[in-house]
Amino acid sequence: MTKVSDPIRIGSFTLKNRMTMAPTVKFDLAGPDGILSDEHVKHYSERASHGIALLCVEATAVTPDGRFDEKHIGLWDDSQIEKHRLVTEACRNNGVVSLIQLNHTGIGTNPAVGRPIGPSSVPCRTGMSEEMPVDDIHRMQSMFVAAAVRAKKAGYDGIQLHGCHGYLINQFVCKKTNLRTDEYGGSAENMARFACEIIRGIREACGSDFLISVRTVGADPDLSTAAEVARYYVDAGCDYLQVSSGIEQPDPSLAAEGAPYNLICSLGVHFHDVFKGKVPVSCVNGIMDPELVRYLIENELTDTVDLARAMLADPRFPEAVLEGKEFVRCFECKACQYGPFTKHVCPAAVRRGALVL
Ligand SMILES: Cc1cc2nc3c(=O)[nH]c(=O)nc-3n(C[C@H](O)[C@H](O)[C@H](O)COP(=O)(O)O)c2cc1C
Repeated sequence: MTKVSDPIRIGSFTLKNRMTMAPTVKFDLAGPDGILSDEHVKHYSERASHGIALLCVEATAVTPDGRFDEKHIGLWDDSQIEKHRLVTEACRNNGVVSLIQLNHTGIGTNPAVGRPIGPSSVPCRTGMSEEMPVDDIHRMQSMFVAAAVRAKKAGYDGIQLHGCHGYLINQFVCKKTNLRTDEYGGSAENMARFACEIIRGIREACGSDFLISVRTVGADPDLSTAAEVARYYVDAGCDYLQVSSGIEQPDPSLAAEGAPYNLICSLGVHFHDVFKGKVPVSCVNGIMDPELVRYLIENELTDTVDLARAMLADPRFPEAVLEGKEFVRCFECKACQYGPFTKHVCPAAVRRGALVL
């Protein structure tokens, strides 16, 4: 039986156990220059020091005009590299594999920072998005590669491409947002091409040891198309898949009947079956109890579990799973999520006496 404490090989790295920290934007911490703040460094250093095996730093913009809003970290400029060295050093000192998630918001770009651009002209919150000509697609791909090179310079062991939750890479693989008839639209292979060319570019620029993962859609538009797209990512050189939601709502019947985990987590479990023996797969969503972590790993339903709010609420969560230590459970209250009036004060953090984190 596989145990949570069992190491696992991913790319050229060995994770010390089966728990990873999912990317989670700290909406209140960044400045307009896209540089990591001291609070970010403290936040991630704390989360690296209680047993997590891999930590993925939050969605990071590859261009200044592809951000969620004016306060959002980026790796579009060399001046943004230095501060990340403190995070990667904290990870290395704790035996934690470090990734950073690279993203462009595409048609969801906040009008305060840029124009909504994407694979096609489709309705978006400011009217209609602009279709990217092929030259712009190539320029955008080179921005992702350049950001990955900066990530490597900052000491990250690899990157994660943000390929889900409705952002640019997801927009390319979704039929609702990609209406193209050229080599970037139509078939699953064509829709995956945008990300595949980024993966190949990163592999060439960052070398064979650099870990490349994709957080991909589990069922956008359906499980088999999403798995086919992910297969192209793997063929292009992706070492590791994390599975989450996309633009289209997943078919509720994909939820494993009677299972103690939810629909989105079920998509990761399906992918784990499909990619067994090829690349490791991680599932995410609603994993907040140590018993559920053990259930998913010990029943070999997934290779790793990706933890978001559990890690925001209490960085000691992995120690609670591994050693039975006390921890404060996430209250699922939404205080950490994006909202113009949200103060981002996590009641669980307050409960454990760590107001700033
Ligand atoms: C505050 C907050 C910020 C998030 N930021 C990101 C992000 O930067 N990138 C991403 O792919 N998902 C992001 N997510 C989604 C989480 O990674 C995760 O998929 C989701 O919270 C479900 O997992 P959980 O139930 O363990 O929280 C964020 C979620 C929260 C609550």
